Amino acid sequence: MWNLLHNSKKSSNFALEMVYTDIHSALEERMKRYEQVCVIADEAVSLDIPALEGMPVLRLKINETAKSLNTVTQIWDFLFAHEMTRKDLMVAVGGGVLTDLAGFAAATYKRGIDYINIPTTLLSMVDASSGGKTGFNYQGLKNSIGAFYPPVETLICTKWLKTLPPQEFLSGFAEMLKTSIIDRDSWLWHVLLQYDLDTMPLDALAPLIEECVAVKERIVKSDPRETGFRKVLNFGHTFGHALEEISFVHRTSSPRPLLHGYAVVYGMIAELYLSVTQLGCPREPLQALTQLMLHYYGRPQCKCSDREALISLMQHDKKNERAAEINCTLIRSIGQPVINQIISPEDASEALDYLFSL
Ligand code: GLY
Repeated sequence: MWNLLHNSKKSSNFALEMVYTDIHSALEERMKRYEQVCVIADEAVSLDIPALEGMPVLRLKINETAKSLNTVTQIWDFLFAHEMTRKDLMVAVGGGVLTDLAGFAAATYKRGIDYINIPTTLLSMVDASSGGKTGFNYQGLKNSIGAFYPPVETLICTKWLKTLPPQEFLSGFAEMLKTSIIDRDSWLWHVLLQYDLDTMPLDALAPLIEECVAVKERIVKSDPRETGFRKVLNFGHTFGHALEEISFVHRTSSPRPLLHGYAVVYGMIAELYLSVTQLGCPREPLQALTQLMLHYYGRPQCKCSDREALISLMQHDKKNERAAEINCTLIRSIGQPVINQIISPEDASEALDYLFSL
């Protein structure tokens, strides 16, 4: 059975179309507007969506190295093989890596074809599949080639979460926590802190996913191309991306790559530490998130000896406006994010020391 968030919240006219509905009928309806439809899907996902039966499908193996130009090329080749035109539609089914790759291929194939995202992980539902960021990793840097190219719709259905591995679930929950920290209403933060991930039924999560999507939609609508305010969504990501990259590319000390959400939790702890020391944020959110990290996520695998490499990665983050600057979003308190905080390497190092001391 499909577990629906709610019915027919109709899409807006730009990038931020989020539709929570019966995805089969929503898809059927949307597909009528196109001459041809093709599907790009994670090979690990069960594609039991009746509307997609009989459509050409490219199944992709999504692993730690898949977010590459090579995979984008496979998608382009598939689109050419099926003679897709700008009158046709691509449907991307999978997690954030797949929808980012498919979105980039859609953005660039024949100068852009329409696509729909059907996110199948919690992370992609609450973050990656909306807002229009697409791209792939290049030269060891996460998402360093990409485009803002929103899907015409994102269809969210919580049925996919029933089979999601617990670590993937936690990874998505981290982005929900991030959203709750930057949201001007602090209720979401307090609700998520109470949420017992071991016992809470999935149905209880549906309205919280919906709220996270609504918060993101509001932020992206006000700044679709991240010229300013959208950077609040990067809270936890300056340190988080560096931790992810070091685990993925450099493999200096981590036995395996960090899942994105785990890196974001560690990044949020470092950035909450800086929020306390630089902006006078109360310590409670830092303490609460630290407890949650220790309970569910465990400690980061990095060592103090990774400090210099991490700082160098942060100085080369694509989000920086100037080279060799560490630019973070911090908070004054829950619901009060402050963008473009320039952090000295010494302060960044102190925040990492705090994180590694936990
Ligand atoms: N994932 C952050 C954003 O979409 O801006």
